[in-house]
Amino acid sequence: MWDSFSFSESDHPRVLITGGLGQLGVGLAKLLRKRFGRNNVILSDIRKPADNVFYSGPFIYTDILDYKNLREIVVNNRITWLFHYSALLSAVGEANVPLARAVNITGLHNVLDIAAEHNLRLFVPSTIGAFGPTSPRDPTPDLCIQRPRTIYGVSKVHAELMGEYYHYRYGLDFRCLRYPGIISADSQPGGGTTDYAVQIFHDAIKTGKFQCNLKPDTRLPMMYIDDCLKATLEVMEAPSETLSMRTYNISAMSFTPEELAQEVQKHVPELQVTYKVDDVRQAIADSWPMNFDDRNARRDWGWKHDYDLPELVTTMFNFLGEESRS
Ligand SMILES: NC(=O)c1ccc[n+]([C@@H]2O[C@H](COP(=O)([O-])OP(=O)(O)OC[C@H]3O[C@@H](n4cnc5c(N)ncnc54)[C@H](O)[C@@H]3O)[C@@H](O)[C@H]2O)c1
Repeated sequence: MWDSFSFSESDHPRVLITGGLGQLGVGLAKLLRKRFGRNNVILSDIRKPADNVFYSGPFIYTDILDYKNLREIVVNNRITWLFHYSALLSAVGEANVPLARAVNITGLHNVLDIAAEHNLRLFVPSTIGAFGPTSPRDPTPDLCIQRPRTIYGVSKVHAELMGEYYHYRYGLDFRCLRYPGIISADSQPGGGTTDYAVQIFHDAIKTGKFQCNLKPDTRLPMMYIDDCLKATLEVMEAPSETLSMRTYNISAMSFTPEELAQEVQKHVPELQVTYKVDDVRQAIADSWPMNFDDRNARRDWGWKHDYDLPELVTTMFNFLGEESRS
């Protein structure tokens, strides 16, 4: 039944991923299944999975707002590690604040209580959006002023603080990484401020025209999805004593729309880029870090990224090129 190479039946974790059908969860499930065995990683969401996702391993309906449903799934499946990916992202959150507050804050409370009650190792991603206009932006260290002005950012600061509080108060094994904007080829972004950096590749291939919703000189930290998922697995596997903190920045590259467009034009020289600024997204981006200081992650648990901008762009085109040919 088990198909894990590196873990015996008794020492591998039993994993649940909440909000797993978004931009990041399916890729995370794939990576974790390779490491821990297909049947030891359960993907969950409130949406209906596509056929290829459904047949790639265990999937279950889980609404994080339903405490009893979540607890039943954790108990019945003897879950030991939980990756809590459900969230409403920055731009979507601003469009529906009550729902963002419910999912990102009330949902997190459910997850924290169940994780503490059942002694789970809990991963919750945070974001560059957990900083605001009064934070140092270039670079942004792990510990500094955090006064974000989006419901997304406020809920993520809350998650960082609550997770750390549960860790110190109840011994919960809480681990958190602040992700930059994540760029992926085979999954769609879920309504964040950095979505443009995924869209440009699709539009370059499909139409040769891209309209950017941020100003050309808006610098934001970004990361290729493989680096993000690698960091997530690494921090979860790191021995507890190596973690001097429970919430870490992770960083790979930082670029502006103009710099990304130039790199993309090396592959698609005819690409035409125009700018039509979305005021909500621009205001959010202007309050976020331009560069992320991740020295603590590099020192404590050996974080190291593999993809800089040129490798990222080449990898995206290799992937999307293959897809458009198939
Ligand atoms: N993608 C990025 O660039 C990025 C950057 C920083 C942090 N993060 C964080 O990583 C995590 C995953 O991000 P993503 O881009 O995959 O998000 P996404 O928006 O693409 O997916 C989130 C998923 O949560 C699900 N969800 C919503 N309400 C739910 C509920 N009540 N119960 C269960 N599931 C529910 C949605 O159906 C969706 O599939 C999030 O916590 C996000 O804040 C992402």
